[in-house]
Amino acid sequence: PRITVLQPGGRRVEIEAAAGISLMLAAVRAQVPGVLGECGGSLACATCHVYVDPVFAGRLPPVTAAEDEMLDATASERRPSSRLSCQIVLTDALDGLVVTVPDSQI
Ligand code: FES
Repeated sequence: PRITVLQPGGRRVEIEAAAGISLMLAAVRAQVPGVLGECGGSLACATCHVYVDPVFAGRLPPVTAAEDEMLDATASERRPSSRLSCQIVLTDALDGLVVTVPDSQI
């Protein structure tokens, strides 16, 4: 799927990612600024925090209890659209997904 990652300054970074890997991994591999993924996707760092365009909210896997707990520990404020990108496995249904990187991760 094709993903757009909006940067705090307004810059758009477009990536073409493989289905089946996490959004965090796709962004890290593409060296997208602001998606750090320091713990490698094991729900221990929250440096993969992104705000997901609400249009796509219904297409995402539900927030698990463990993700919910880590979302309370993000460096930038938690919003209703907050997700940890390591918990979003990319599928073709997510083609066109738009996410925004929080200020604090840049
Ligand atoms: Fe660490 Fe997502 S990569 S919580």
